[in-house]
Amino acid sequence: MTRLAARLGLVLPLLQAGMGAVAGPGLCAAVSQAGAGGTLALYKEPPARAARLVREVTAATTRPFGVNVVPEVTGPAACLDQLRAVLPELPPGAFVTSFGLPDADAARTVQAAGHPLVVQVGTLADAGTALGQGAAVLVLQGTEAGGHLLGRLPVDLLLTAVRARYPHAVLAVAGGIATGRDLADAVARGADGAMAGTLFVPAGESTAHPEFKRRVVEAEADDTLVTSLFDIGWPHRPHRVLRNPLTDTAKRAPATFIATTQVDGREYPVPRYSAAAPGDGTTGRVEEMAMYCGRSCARVTARHPAAVTVARLSREYENARGPHAASPGSANATTVRTSRFPRPNRIQERDPWTT
Ligand SMILES: Cc1cc2nc3c(=O)[nH]c(=O)nc-3n(C[C@H](O)[C@H](O)[C@H](O)COP(=O)(O)O)c2cc1C
Repeated sequence: MTRLAARLGLVLPLLQAGMGAVAGPGLCAAVSQAGAGGTLALYKEPPARAARLVREVTAATTRPFGVNVVPEVTGPAACLDQLRAVLPELPPGAFVTSFGLPDADAARTVQAAGHPLVVQVGTLADAGTALGQGAAVLVLQGTEAGGHLLGRLPVDLLLTAVRARYPHAVLAVAGGIATGRDLADAVARGADGAMAGTLFVPAGESTAHPEFKRRVVEAEADDTLVTSLFDIGWPHRPHRVLRNPLTDTAKRAPATFIATTQVDGREYPVPRYSAAAPGDGTTGRVEEMAMYCGRSCARVTARHPAAVTVARLSREYENARGPHAASPGSANATTVRTSRFPRPNRIQERDPWTT
């Protein structure tokens, strides 16, 4: 068991990313029940509905799970409202993940309720700030990741830098994880586990639109790119998406409505360049919407129930680690390095968008 698994009560040291339009109660509960860190995306959910979704998860799993907030989208006040609505509904052992740094009030509120705070960061500086806020786990996001990007470093460089500065921190990597071998490599390089998003987009329980699932399964790494195009509703943050007719055109088209999406039985129009990903209630020009996808898609090749995917990763992880693997979470786990990736000895800011 790694320190990540021990800290969050997981069987497999893998967190499923909270993903707006993709990670509802069904996916969260299925991943959790299978022994990994299932996570419910709260994204822009109003507090009352967020609390209801948490109750659905609680009824469907007996194992730890998380809820995910995105403070830079909701703003600090609405994030606190979401947290105040869901925290009383969370069973003991549930954790809260934040995309980027939460503000001090949010961090304190989570910890005062007794739940581990998991903060995803993309820079060494933010890693230090999150630890100062009392984060129990850091998720280090590399530029290989799908979705919005918090930094400009590939995951290996970020892990090396953060591990060197904070040898005792519990660290998960995000970006490039789609197999148990990927997970074992990350642990061998000094991580305590990982987070994966793209891997779970095609899962049976995912609420991604069927076309989104199909494209992720068929995509190669170079079918993704980093852009700032889909900025309506979430500005100022580059994101990795699947190429589509909009990303392949130099001229920006008018931001007219191209689709409608359903949330809680109500229809909402979706403008061209919206940050919203297509979910199973979306109709219209889905092919023009933001399909967030990491370079790990090259190794995501099937749609299975989440439990089948978690079981496969568990088998692959154990096989890759072998019988003599270093005891994870021990000092050894940070010094044994059997990676197929070259090990940089210092951080270099290189152009991440070419990786
Ligand atoms: C479809 C999709 C939606 C995402 N939405 C969120 C989100 O709502 N909150 C969040 O914390 N991270 C979100 N992410 C980013 C993940 O937290 C994580 O950094 C990423 O999935 C890791 O890379 P991978 O997708 O290659 O596994 C999203 C990622 C994807 C692929």
